[in-house]
Amino acid sequence: MNYDDVVRGRRSIRGFKKQPVTKETIKEVLDLAMRAPSSLNTQPWNFYVVAGEPLDRIRAGNTERNLAGVPHSREFRTQGEYGGAHRDRQIGIAKQLFAAMGIAREDKAARQDWVLRGFRQFDAPVSIVVTYDRSIHGSDIGPFDCGAVSNAIVNAAWSRGLGCVINSQGIMQSPVVREHAGIADDQVIMICIAMGYPDDSFPANAVVSERKGVEEAAVFVGFDD
Ligand SMILES: Cc1cc2nc3c(=O)[nH]c(=O)nc-3n(C[C@H](O)[C@H](O)[C@H](O)COP(=O)(O)O)c2cc1C
Repeated sequence: MNYDDVVRGRRSIRGFKKQPVTKETIKEVLDLAMRAPSSLNTQPWNFYVVAGEPLDRIRAGNTERNLAGVPHSREFRTQGEYGGAHRDRQIGIAKQLFAAMGIAREDKAARQDWVLRGFRQFDAPVSIVVTYDRSIHGSDIGPFDCGAVSNAIVNAAWSRGLGCVINSQGIMQSPVVREHAGIADDQVIMICIAMGYPDDSFPANAVVSERKGVEEAAVFVGFDD
């Protein structure tokens, strides 16, 4: 696959085959992804690659706490509810996903089921919990570098026939993840990435999300034309 095919072909995968992913394959993906740039080449990221029983315990803990209404506890700053164009885009992708899955707006049970799937990391066989070194906690550079490597992971995985969804829901109950993934005290949990072989019969996997145009995003300064 060339670069354009990977980038334009990749989409978030939310339905997975049961087929396990080998450690060797994951190592290859991480090795490729870790060519990502980082501030001063500090590479503050670390990965807890979780599968099997520990991942099932995380899914169970996330489900239980979310159903019980335990407040979310991410380990970094968040902005609260989105508004304006951000909110519009959030609604846009939700509408695309619900349409693909045949989930009606008023079907509260089906919507709740979808949310719970997210907290279970869409039942993926692997979850990569991305953490960064606590020694740089408080600076925005660590999360920036984790974003770079996370994007590289999902693209490297796609180039090997694997699908991923970067998944905030999976780390919203961070004590659960901390306990069952055995996260070291000197690490801050940033995000997790659900990974596995895509189930092509799962309707949401066909959804191609929209992007604003370059003209909307980019301001060109100092060009002649
Ligand atoms: C930081 C981050 C957190 C995300 N969290 C979730 C999530 O909790 N659940 C989910 O279904 N998708 C999640 N996504 C996936 C986005 O919804 C998805 O990347 C976006 O809609 C664009 O779609 P695409 O990845 O198919 O291009 C997350 C993506 C990022 C970058």
